[in-house]
Amino acid sequence: MNNNQKTVFSGVQPSGNLTIGNYLGAIKNFSRFSGEYKTFYSVVDMHAITVRQIPADLRRRTYETLALYIACGLDEEKNTLFVQSHVKEHAELGWILDCYTMFGELSRMTQFKDKSAKNAQNINAGLFTYPALMAADILLYQTDVVPVGIDQKQHLELARDVAMRFNQIYSDTFTIPEGYMNPDTMKIMSLSDPTAKMSKSDPNQNSVVYILDSKDDIIRKFKKAVTDSESEVRYAEDKPGVSNLMTIYKAFTGKSFEEIENEFRGSGYGDFKLAVGEACADGLSHVREEFQRLIADKAHLEAIMKRGADEARYYANKTMSKVRRKIGFIG
Ligand code: TRP
Repeated sequence: MNNNQKTVFSGVQPSGNLTIGNYLGAIKNFSRFSGEYKTFYSVVDMHAITVRQIPADLRRRTYETLALYIACGLDEEKNTLFVQSHVKEHAELGWILDCYTMFGELSRMTQFKDKSAKNAQNINAGLFTYPALMAADILLYQTDVVPVGIDQKQHLELARDVAMRFNQIYSDTFTIPEGYMNPDTMKIMSLSDPTAKMSKSDPNQNSVVYILDSKDDIIRKFKKAVTDSESEVRYAEDKPGVSNLMTIYKAFTGKSFEEIENEFRGSGYGDFKLAVGEACADGLSHVREEFQRLIADKAHLEAIMKRGADEARYYANKTMSKVRRKIGFIG
């Protein structure tokens, strides 16, 4: 790594099937950094256990998430791809940063409030301190840029605050990270309720398009998408359904909103929804094929995760030896 090369870190939880919201809002943006930046992309299994997981599912999804990273265009030669729990320094720094993160700060996290409302029977300490572990993930690699979806903005700000606090007490130790949020695709909304975010755990399966859905399923879901009582394809705040579909269409075709409005002038929503479904299915077909090829070869995925972890550990240890020394641990 040359000294001027900037570092990128991001993570995806292996806790459910990934949606086109995860794809457009986060993963698709990861590859724009590869090559020019030193990039670390982790499958964050330690985060996933803040919510109860079935062990066999967690293991399978960890392989799948890694395969999906590669299928979405992250070349394993150009990016460090690894599983979080394979690099124990995440747990170590996570604990240390717990001691520099305030109860009040964690209490203000909206995701914690949402998740604890949804999992009232399992509001565990890990769910509460999760942002400190996320800060550790980022700060371990002296990360400059963190590509994330808008829902992670508050956690990222906390990571910055914790880094600044630590640096203030012990002199410069951590790089202060910046978020990267793609303004065009920050928020993909549910197809059946376009005022709510598209969520992988939505019980209404017609609301959510998964990256690995078949072409037929994708088209069927878009055909059912909620629009409005007009018939005009126009991007407007009071047309959240149509605007969301236009955002998705734009992301897959590269067309501007104006071009899209012209394309569908005079044709009803039916044609428009079909076109969005086809663009989405076609845009994902390569990802789907690559994924099927990769997931069939576990040994290959294991070799990639091992190599990634070895490399990540090397950089993580550089940071950890500084941290241990500064806080007064011996050796
Ligand atoms: N919290 C993120 C999510 O739920 C995943 C994540 C964990 C992450 N550690 C990270 C993202 C570090 C960016 C950087 O989506």
